[in-house]
Amino acid sequence: RRQKRDRLLALLERTAAYYVRVLWESPEAEDARAYLQSRGLQEGALRAFRVGFAPDTWDRVVLGSRRAGYGEGELVAAGLASRSSRGTLIDRFRGRITFPLADERGRVLGFGARAMKPDDKPKYLNTSENDLFHKGRIVYGADLARAAAAKAGRVVLVEGYTDVIALHQAGVPEVVAQMGTALTDAQVDAIARLAPKALFCQDPDRAGQESVAKGIASLRTHNKGRSTRAVEFKIVRLPLGEDPADVVQKSGADEMRALLEKAIPIERFEVERALEQRDASTDEMLAAVKPIIASMRPTILRDQLVELIANKFSMTSNMVNELLQAPAT
Ligand code: GTP
Ligand code: MN
Ligand code: MN
Ligand code: MN
Ligand code: MN
Repeated sequence: RRQKRDRLLALLERTAAYYVRVLWESPEAEDARAYLQSRGLQEGALRAFRVGFAPDTWDRVVLGSRRAGYGEGELVAAGLASRSSRGTLIDRFRGRITFPLADERGRVLGFGARAMKPDDKPKYLNTSENDLFHKGRIVYGADLARAAAAKAGRVVLVEGYTDVIALHQAGVPEVVAQMGTALTDAQVDAIARLAPKALFCQDPDRAGQESVAKGIASLRTHNKGRSTRAVEFKIVRLPLGEDPADVVQKSGADEMRALLEKAIPIERFEVERALEQRDASTDEMLAAVKPIIASMRPTILRDQLVELIANKFSMTSNMVNELLQAPAT
């Protein structure tokens, strides 16, 4: 069993190395190199994350792996190939930029692979769930973030591969990604193992903000668990329409780091979010902020949030305090 698993790990490892060689050495990857450069991603950071390119052919990995002694069953089990309708084995990743997905110890378990053109769907094709690879069990970049997170005492959580690489390059190596999906309990535990503090830095779009809200709920649940290490967390606000990779490219590393330092407490995130609901009435917004404020001890932050609410509805802070203390109707 163990030997079987080790062979699959070795196959994934050599494939990751192969994709890296293709990216930097093959004329086939010229467009991929140009694309990565146009995104402002530098060779040093790309190499650190072992980003590569899967050539646009049907069976390059299949043939190379078979020559190296791997069987068809192993290629399928590793998630690198599948059987075509005609019964031949074909590579899963073709004509895509590859991001190895490794565990905390840096062992490659699968890949995320990005299309080169906007009309090429899906934008990202990942290894499908198999015995070795479970997307929900890893956070992207944990192996590289580990030492930096321990040193910084915090970890920055972003959505995607390019965000991780851009932040790493911008001097924030304590960064990992949840890879688009909702934060799983296993991912929360992985974050807790990295550092006692986390900064949520998701995309400033609807999906990203939903994901932050869900992440807050998961972390609160985690923090209530007795046997787990609690994680203190804050929320990073990004400019409209720009994810972390965009900020780094457009505004630079200093601006990105400054935004991280301006992270806001969860209560502020929640109040601001409630006040931003477009089609909510004043009563509905007040009902939404009430439990948030009610759960807070008297602090400067609480006063600031009451003032924020007061300004929003052109009331005085006293009026807001009275409204929030009134029993629910
Ligand atoms: P890039 O900056 O080019 O990566 O694109 P983006 O910023 O538009 O990526 P987006 O915010 O949509 O996605 C963030 C992360 O979600 C990606 O890094 C992937 O891990 C994941 N993701 C996005 N699109 C897909 C998809 O089509 N399929 C899968 N499986 N994952 C996806
Ligand atoms: Mn997104
Ligand atoms: Mn937990
Ligand atoms: Mn994004
Ligand atoms: Mn992006």
